Amino acid sequence: PIVTPFRTAMPIPPVARPVSVTSTTDTYSIPVTQTTAEIIPGVRTPVLTYGGSFPGPTIKARSGRRVVVKQPNRITTGTSMHLHGAVVDPANDGGPMDLITPGGQRTYTYPNPQVAATLWYHDHAHHMEAEHVYRGMSGFYLISDDNEDALPLPRGTYDVPIVVRDIGLNPDGTLFFDHNFDTRPQILVNGKPQPYFQVAARKYRLRILNGSNQRPFEFRLSDGGEFTQIASDRGLLPAPYTTTTLPLSPAERADIVVDFSRYPVGSSVVLENAYFPEPSNKEILRFDVVRSAYDPSSVPARLATLPPTAAPTQTRNYTLDFDVQTGAGSISGKTWDEQRVDTTVRQGDTEVWEIKNTHPFIPHNFHIHLVDFRILDIDGKPPTPGDAGLKDTVRIGPGETARILVHFDFPYSGRYYYHCHLIDHSSMGMMANLEITR
Ligand code: C2O
Ligand code: CU
Repeated sequence: PIVTPFRTAMPIPPVARPVSVTSTTDTYSIPVTQTTAEIIPGVRTPVLTYGGSFPGPTIKARSGRRVVVKQPNRITTGTSMHLHGAVVDPANDGGPMDLITPGGQRTYTYPNPQVAATLWYHDHAHHMEAEHVYRGMSGFYLISDDNEDALPLPRGTYDVPIVVRDIGLNPDGTLFFDHNFDTRPQILVNGKPQPYFQVAARKYRLRILNGSNQRPFEFRLSDGGEFTQIASDRGLLPAPYTTTTLPLSPAERADIVVDFSRYPVGSSVVLENAYFPEPSNKEILRFDVVRSAYDPSSVPARLATLPPTAAPTQTRNYTLDFDVQTGAGSISGKTWDEQRVDTTVRQGDTEVWEIKNTHPFIPHNFHIHLVDFRILDIDGKPPTPGDAGLKDTVRIGPGETARILVHFDFPYSGRYYYHCHLIDHSSMGMMANLEITR
C-alpha cells in the first residue's frame, strides 16, 4: 500500500551527542539495534538502526578533528560500519569481512583529514549490506571546515539534511525485502512517506542524499524553478551551478540552495522525481512556505578551490556486468572474492579508470573507497558543472562508459574496495578489491 502524500511533517534526523569531548576528539556511542519506527502513521515497523533512530543520527564532524564511534552490535547478524567518503585507514574503513559479531563491539576512529562535505555512514557487511541498509542502517556524517564557515551560506536551521529513498511495505506495516527494485514503490524522506516541510520564504541549504538501494532519482521542482547546486559528493563546487534538475544515483550527495522567497507565503512547491516515476511516487516532498523571514545568507560566486590534478600514469578498464538469470553481479567478469587482489595501485599515482556498464537497460554506478575523483566524461561527453567537482560515486547509465581521473594521494595503504553502489548489486558480488601500496 502507498501512503497518501503530504500527511506527515518531514523530521530532521537527530544530531548525535558525544559521550565525551576532549581537545582533539569527540567520542560517540552508537549501538546497532533492532527497534520499531513509525513510518506509516499509527503503525510500528520493525527496523534495524544506528542508535535507535530511523534514519540514524547525524554526526557533525570538523575537518582535522578526530571522531571516535564506539559501536556495540545488538542485532543477530554481523555488521560493519563504513563511513562513505571518508579518508581513513583500512582498519577503520568498515570492510565487508571486518565484522562486528552479534553481541560484540568495536571502535572506529576517523581523523577527518578532508574538506567540508556531506558524507554518510552505512552498513557494509558482505552480502548483508543491502538488507541492513534497506532496513535502516544509515545516517549522515557532516564535515565542516574554516573555508565553509567563512562563506555566507544558509546555516543553522536553514541547513537541512534530506535523505530520499524507497521502500516496500507489507500490508501489516513490516518492510518487504528482496533484491528487486520493483517491490519498493514507497518514497521516504528522512524516514517518512512523502512528507511536507514548512519553510520560511528565504534561502535554504538542502543536503540531499540518495539513500536508496537501487532507485535513481532526478530531482526537480514542480514549477520547474531554478535552484543552485553548491556541493557534490566530496565537498563544495568551485562555483555555484544554477540548474532546474539534479540527478542522483544511490550514495551520491548534492547540496543545493533553494530560495523560497520567490514563492508567496501560503503557497507550496513540490520536490519531484523525473526519473521514470510511477504516478503514485512522482511527488517526493512538499515545501510549504509558511512565513516570511530575514535572510542574511547568500551564495558567493566562488566557493572553494579544488586541489590540482596531475597527469595520469596509466589507464585501466573495467566492465560492470549483471547476470539477470542468476542475479550475480561482477566487475570485469569476476564476482567478488575476499582472497583476490583485483587492482594494485601505488600511493601517490594518478590514473584514468574507464568503466563500462555492459547492460542495455539496468543503470549502475561506481564508487571507490578512500579517494575522491573527477569525472572526465561519460560516453565522451563532459560532466555538467554539478558533476565536475570532487566525486566518489559516478552514475553510469545503461550501455554507458564513464572515464574518471583518480588521484591516490592520501597517506594510507592497504585494502580498499570499489563497487557498484546500487547496493543490491554489490551485495550480489559487483565489488572488487583495491590494494594501495607504498
Ligand atoms: Cu557507500 Cu563501499 O560504500
Ligand atoms: Cu549495479
